[in-house]
This record gives sequence, structure tokens and C-alpha cells, in this order.
Amino acid sequence: MRKQIAAANWKMNLTYQQGSALLQTLVTTEIDLKEHQAAVFAVPFPYLEMAVDTVQHKKNYYIAAQNCSDKKSGAFTGEVSAEMLKSLNVNYCLVGHSERREYFGESNAVLAEKLNICLANGITPVFCCGEALATREQHRQNAYVEGQLKESLFHLSKEALLKVVIAYEPIWAIGTGKTASTEQAQEMHAHIRSVLKNQYGDSIAEQISILYGGSVKASNARELFASKDVDGGLVGGASLIAAEFIEIIKALK
Ligand code: 13P
Repeated sequence: MRKQIAAANWKMNLTYQQGSALLQTLVTTEIDLKEHQAAVFAVPFPYLEMAVDTVQHKKNYYIAAQNCSDKKSGAFTGEVSAEMLKSLNVNYCLVGHSERREYFGESNAVLAEKLNICLANGITPVFCCGEALATREQHRQNAYVEGQLKESLFHLSKEALLKVVIAYEPIWAIGTGKTASTEQAQEMHAHIRSVLKNQYGDSIAEQISILYGGSVKASNARELFASKDVDGGLVGGASLIAAEFIEIIKALK
């Protein structure tokens, strides 16, 4: 079975003390993850070391950064490199979240570099894609997402692609309380998988985990995750509340 992942994206929320307390609650809650399941926490940079320490003895719990530089090292004040993340034993990194694309001008080309640098450092990139409301209203979402995948992923070898996780996050569903319907999510996930199939073949495409993000909550996670091509979720708001995120982890297939 493909890896099923419940990923928390804290974004720019919680103080160090609040974040530490939240993680403590989560690691001390009895949740028996199966071999093919994982819980991942994308926390702010200053909390990475604490977070890695907190989850290191929990089976299949991992820490992610929310971003990294597309450059290896050097005079890039304020940036954090993939090599730095690796040196902290961080296993995952979000790449191309729509907020990074929108507010920090990250292009598909820059994101291709970020994927390369994560992979070169043994960090699993969680590549985010997804369309804005206007694009969906014009029924152009499939072509739009296909373009994002082509421009950022398609230079990768089969072996490299197998190390990537994809997150489909329709922008109109992020932080709005408006979740994509199960049908809309499944339809896009199947489309993403078919795009991967055309480029990389069936067997590779079938192995790639595709997470859904956008107003995932305890109350809708199970139904969303039950879809054939939905392999878990990338969760913002509801990941800041222990009771909510615990139920979301438990909702994994
Ligand atoms: P919400 O779950 O708050 O809608 O955020 C989704 C998201 O952007 C996760 O990366």
C-alpha cells in the first residue's frame, strides 16, 4: 500500500511554548500507526530541533520544514538551506506551498531547484500544487495543475520522483472552511496520477502519495482519505488543535 500521511502545517502560528506543548500532547497520545502510515509536522524553523527531539522515539512520526532555500549555501541572509535541515535530522520539507508562491513569488522553476536540493540532501519534499478559484471557475484546473507538475517535477528521474510526496491544495479551500468535495478531491488526485503515469509509467505513478489539503478537519478527514487516490492530508488550522489532529491521524487508511 502507498504511504498514507497526516501532515500538519503550523504555518506562522504558535509560540515555542505552545508548539512544544502541542507536540508533547500528540506524542503522549496512544496512536498505533501502521507500517504504511506516517504523521509529519511542518513547524517553524526555530522549533525544528525541539520538534525532532520530541518525536524521535515515536515510530513513523517525522518533522518537516515549511520551506528551504533553492541555493546550496552562501551570502543569502535570512535563508535556511536543505543541508542545514539535514544536519538537524529533519526528514521532510514543504516545497511550493501556495502561500510561498503567492506572497514570496516562488516560480515553478525555483521550486524545481528546491526539489533538487532537498533530494540531494535526503529530505523528502512535499510538493504542493493547486489552482485558484478563478482557474476552477474557468474549468482550467486540470491543465493548470498539470503545468505545475511538468515545470517543477518532470526533470526528475523515476528514482528521484519516487522520493517525492505531492500535496494537492486548491487555494480556494485553504483557510476558508470550504473543503473540496470528496468527488472534486478524488477527481484531481486521479488526474495528477494520470499525468504522472503518462510521464513515468503506471508502476511509478501508483507508488506516489498524493495528499489533499484545504480545510481538512476531524469531521471530514475520514471521508476524504477514503477516496482511492487520496493518501492523507496536509492540514493547516485543524493541526493546531491536538484533539482535531489526533482524529485526523486516526482517519488515515
Ligand atoms: P487549512 O487546513 O487551514 O485550510 O490549510 C491548508 C494548508 O494550507 C495546509 O498546508
